[in-house]
Amino acid sequence: MGLHIRPFKEEDLEAVLEIEHLSFDEPYAEEVFRRVLGEDNIFLVGDVEGGRVVAYILALILQSEVHVLSVAVHPEWRRRGYAKELFGHLFQEVRLLGLGRVILEVDVTNSVAQRVYYALGFKVGGRLRCYYQNGHDALLLFKEFGPQRIASG
Ligand SMILES: CC(C)(COP(=O)(O)OP(=O)(O)OC[C@H]1O[C@@H](n2cnc3c(N)ncnc32)[C@H](O)[C@@H]1OP(=O)(O)O)[C@@H](O)C(=O)NCCC(=O)NCCS
Repeated sequence: MGLHIRPFKEEDLEAVLEIEHLSFDEPYAEEVFRRVLGEDNIFLVGDVEGGRVVAYILALILQSEVHVLSVAVHPEWRRRGYAKELFGHLFQEVRLLGLGRVILEVDVTNSVAQRVYYALGFKVGGRLRCYYQNGHDALLLFKEFGPQRIASG
């Protein structure tokens, strides 16, 4: 089943919140999503089968940097390459906008997500002690995007 990736629309919020709650012990509250909608963001959802939203990625643009706040795939739709596809679209936008870097934090115990990120070329930039409410540390990961190459005739 192919994933159709498109920008978030307000009517997707319920599905996004459901995925968020199924995916995280410390999910972001609805108000967090609503607050960031008004900011400079890259918010993509992936839908399948008559439009059901099964995956999303939310990132904030902070000057030349893109900070991924949340990414998740509905548990029933994992291991199909959807996270990789979402990141592929995000990276395309980052290049189009000429931005320099994508950063994110990941729980040190979340080895599944770390596999995805390392496969996508993220590198470890540091460790944030007791970053999560459960006391776990976070790894700070980053991926650099070089200056755009201008095609020569
Ligand atoms: C992390 C998450 C977004 C990955 O989504 P996904 O669509 O299942 O990932 P993909 O299918 O694109 O996987 C990409 C690669 O990562 C690795 N990978 C993904 N899930 C894996 C698993 N359960 N075990 C081992 N490797 C895994 C594989 O190398 C995979 O490529 P392959 O299937 O070709 O071998 C998903 O597991 C999820 O929503 N988890 C809960 C929320 C979360 O932890 N988000 C990240 C917070 S920082």
